[in-house]
Amino acid sequence: MKNLIRKAVIPVAGLGTRGLPFTKEIPKEMLPIIDIPTIQFIVEEVIAAGIEQVIFVTSRGKNALQDYFDLSPALDGFLRKKGKNELADKLQKIGTLCEVLSVRQKEPLGLGHAVLCAQPIVGDEKFVVCLGDEIFPPWDQLNRARPPVKQLVETSQELNTSTVGVMEVPINETKSYGILRISEDKITDAPVKVLGTVEKPEPEKAPSRYAIIGRYVFDPIIFDYLARTPKGAGGEIQLTDAMTQLCDKEGLHAVNLKGCRYDIGNPFFYVKAQIDEALRRPELARPLREYLKTL
Ligand code: G1P
Repeated sequence: MKNLIRKAVIPVAGLGTRGLPFTKEIPKEMLPIIDIPTIQFIVEEVIAAGIEQVIFVTSRGKNALQDYFDLSPALDGFLRKKGKNELADKLQKIGTLCEVLSVRQKEPLGLGHAVLCAQPIVGDEKFVVCLGDEIFPPWDQLNRARPPVKQLVETSQELNTSTVGVMEVPINETKSYGILRISEDKITDAPVKVLGTVEKPEPEKAPSRYAIIGRYVFDPIIFDYLARTPKGAGGEIQLTDAMTQLCDKEGLHAVNLKGCRYDIGNPFFYVKAQIDEALRRPELARPLREYLKTL
């Protein structure tokens, strides 16, 4: 297994039904936290882990995502002519963050299938997978000190294994996540060997309370397992089913992530992210605090 990790796959083909009506015409990954699209937080997180190439697994209507990370010479010229060099520099930086490639997922056959669509670009290298609706912004101290993807990449390199990021969730939430089977009761700071993964179990069937939260590092052998994985929960090809085969053979380790996570598809967490980001910005923090006091 090659130990260099330089590619990240970000599946963004989903229809975004949780975000309708907004997502009818605009990709949910473009939902902004004030003025920063959520996808930018994810791309910056993978870059902080040394990733050089981002691969979007897209579908019809998702072109805005690739355009966002491209240069825009016309806009650049316009802004500079108006003396808005600082803003032009900011856009230039976004346009040169990393190499962005894309591949189409032509049918909505599930997350496992989406990851498999990236195989021709990833090839025979270990790679990162990040799900587009979860963000770990660097304004949280723990996320800044130990960015989730960086932790997973480093652990994967140290142990020469695939890795997955997890968080402990209340027992009534297991049915929203892939859940780990492990032999320990608690995951502390050390990575833990995963025995298996179950997609969205009901609480009484959940093998633990450790939920997969959308950050992974995979050995490319996962593509072989995905290609042989039949449709599972919800009639979709599930990434968690292929991960269970990894656990049985090459091995998978879980890292307990502790920073602040926002599930942008959940309206409460989306609003909370807006407020938390606003409170960080001096020009917004004071009027926002004053406004909140009046409620
Ligand atoms: C997906 C995965 C699940 C994981 C979750 C994290 O589910 O299938 O294993 O725990 O993302 O958000 P989804 O939320 O796309 O239904």
